[in-house]
Amino acid sequence: MAAARMEYPYDVTIVSPNAALDSYYAIDALRFGEINRAREVFHTAGGKGNNMARALVMLGGRALSIGILGGKSGEFISRELEREDIASEIIWTQGETRRTVTIPITTLQQSTGILEGGAAVGASVLQAFTDAVFAHALDAPFLTLIGSLPSDFPPNFYAELIGRLRAMSVRVALDTSGAVLRHAAFAAPHILKINLEEFNAIFAEASAGTTPNWQVIQQVADDLQAHGLDTLIITQGAHGAYVFSRAEVPFRVFTPLERWVCPAGSGDSFMAALLLGLVRGEPLRRAACFASAAATANIEHMVSGYITEEALARLLPKTVLEPLALEGST
Ligand SMILES: Nc1ncnc2c1ncn2[C@@H]1O[C@H](COP(=O)(O)OP(=O)(O)OP(=O)(O)O)[C@@H](O)[C@H]1O
Ligand SMILES: [Mg+2]
Repeated sequence: MAAARMEYPYDVTIVSPNAALDSYYAIDALRFGEINRAREVFHTAGGKGNNMARALVMLGGRALSIGILGGKSGEFISRELEREDIASEIIWTQGETRRTVTIPITTLQQSTGILEGGAAVGASVLQAFTDAVFAHALDAPFLTLIGSLPSDFPPNFYAELIGRLRAMSVRVALDTSGAVLRHAAFAAPHILKINLEEFNAIFAEASAGTTPNWQVIQQVADDLQAHGLDTLIITQGAHGAYVFSRAEVPFRVFTPLERWVCPAGSGDSFMAALLLGLVRGEPLRRAACFASAAATANIEHMVSGYITEEALARLLPKTVLEPLALEGST
């Protein structure tokens, strides 16, 4: 397996067209309508793709992050990627790259986010980005499509890419939401990983609550697999992740949290570790345990995708995998 891995320059190609400069302001308690002084601040290369790339590199993997950047925030992100040893292929655009703010509130163990949408980038940038995806499609055993799209990308952008990538036998992992997810899910990526809220918004009834409806989930998993999906993973924060794979009895994996700092980027960390485990030749169950431990370890540091070896080594042995008891439940 190690030999096979070395044939590729990267472990995962990460395709994420809506990068962001992510800022984190940690405060102990939030006072509405008043000045809140940050206890700690970080400004980072962000957006889901770069956060996933950070996790992958911190876990010892080789990531190629393909993105679109512009303006002062774009220059900052590009410098940060270099500093963090994250390889990138950047399409430059005229406009300023968006920014996001994450405010983890320690006393509440809740995180508040403010996100800019992502401006239009124009047809030539869309074309150059698409070309870059295909130029690097065979650089790694997995290619991830992750996050939202710039406002002028068509909502079927990922769906179209998946169709063409499948024809090249590229294994695609997908993590997105809303209309983009609706289009792409049935285009049959190899792996689809979304959170329960994102799943319910597209596949379940609008009234679906926070309790997973196993009947609906199993039905959707079967349906997606009939279209060519291999593995559906639905994450649900502290409850862990539910894994429906063709060759496995459905299972849940979870890791108890020991230190809350900031939960942002847990899904991206999960995806990074899962794919790295699979690339390293681990069976799905082991890769899922690795992913769960990495996702929970991410919560112990403010910056998304920041996973220390110490946290991972401590949390991996505490990770639990159990079959999902689906019958009789709703
Ligand atoms: N409170 C928690 N305790 C333990 N593990 C957690 C907790 N929150 C998240 N995780 C881990 O992270 C994984 C992903 O979390 P979540 O379902 O919140 O993803 P997400 O909403 O996609 O996150 P993001 O989009 O911010 O990256 C979970 O499946 C679990 O393994
Ligand atoms: Mg997510």
